[in-house]
Amino acid sequence: MAVNLNDLRELAYQNLSSSALDYYRSGSRDERTLARNEQAWSEIELWPRVMVDVSKRTLETTVLGQRIDAPILVAPTAFHGLAHADAELGTARAARGTVMCLSTLSNTAVERVVATVGGPVWFQLYVYKDRGAARALVERAEAAGCSALVLTVDAPVLGVRERDVRNRFTLPKHLSMPNALPDADTLPEVDDSGLGTWFAQLLDESLSWNDLNWLASITSLPIVVKGVVRHDDARRAQDHGARAIVVSNHGGRQLDGSVPTAVALPHVVDATDLEVYVDGGIRRGHDVLRALALGARAVLVGRPVLWGLAANGAAGARRALDILRGELDEAMALSGCASVEDVGDWLIRP
Ligand SMILES: Cc1cc2nc3c(=O)[nH]c(=O)nc-3n(C[C@H](O)[C@H](O)[C@H](O)COP(=O)(O)O)c2cc1C
Repeated sequence: MAVNLNDLRELAYQNLSSSALDYYRSGSRDERTLARNEQAWSEIELWPRVMVDVSKRTLETTVLGQRIDAPILVAPTAFHGLAHADAELGTARAARGTVMCLSTLSNTAVERVVATVGGPVWFQLYVYKDRGAARALVERAEAAGCSALVLTVDAPVLGVRERDVRNRFTLPKHLSMPNALPDADTLPEVDDSGLGTWFAQLLDESLSWNDLNWLASITSLPIVVKGVVRHDDARRAQDHGARAIVVSNHGGRQLDGSVPTAVALPHVVDATDLEVYVDGGIRRGHDVLRALALGARAVLVGRPVLWGLAANGAAGARRALDILRGELDEAMALSGCASVEDVGDWLIRP
């Protein structure tokens, strides 16, 4: 049995093709930010309280007013079909009780995922150069029943993942991208990363803060801005109508050398009254606790869910989330916290 997320990762490594494994595990360029994300969480030391009654505990919380069973959300990641035949439907089953963020680049149509998940789905948006097409995708996500849009803002171009270039990464023939434009719903076969080429051809490199106002004007869904690390950008996101912010460096896949999210998080929390979530390198419930102590309302996890899905489909992805919830419960009890409201910055200060 997988006792921790490393065990699940080992199982996943045995099941994945080398190209899929490389796609999932890669960071951009020298992968420094990828490594630093995990390390930075572990460097935050905890100062637990003792002799607190923790006999009745709950991990429940809310995000954008939606009740979830623990402050752990499923991050939007592309191409779950590379991990398991159930693809995003497997993940959706595993995500019951929390929010699943569905990537624009999923291998399953947004309508099918919303029908399966039985819980809130937030749609992660990449904005096309063709604004008519972008608008149509937003309308489609809204009509499907998604309850928020997650606008990814750290990817005007795709950070180069050198393994994908070497592998000439593309999708196997049986997988497509049913949320994408019908004439661009698969990755090209090129002498480079097929995803990088797809990005450069279709997505809008000119995206700027005024476009957030445009997006807000075409949808009634709340907009979560994902990919902020700076204090001033957090302010701008708030001023331009964002309802929440995800502190993220895309799991170390965009600007290599970008600050680890554990370091960036308090700067963003200080800058805004919005709900702040964080992702990148969360591998233990203890890291979730650290994020809450730094002021995050919740975390998102990317690769661990993919490892679980690759290891054992929906049950494996569920196991990844259960492992994190179990560890968070343990870490909270051992810190003198009976609920997430009890967690505060006292936990990281002498
Ligand atoms: C394989 C993979 C695919 C991803 N695809 C997307 C995507 O389509 N859209 C997006 O906004 N972020 C994407 N991300 C970034 C995740 O949403 C998230 O920020 C990151 O995985 C968090 O780091 P972690 O994997 O260390 O938990 C992807 C990450 C991975 C690992």
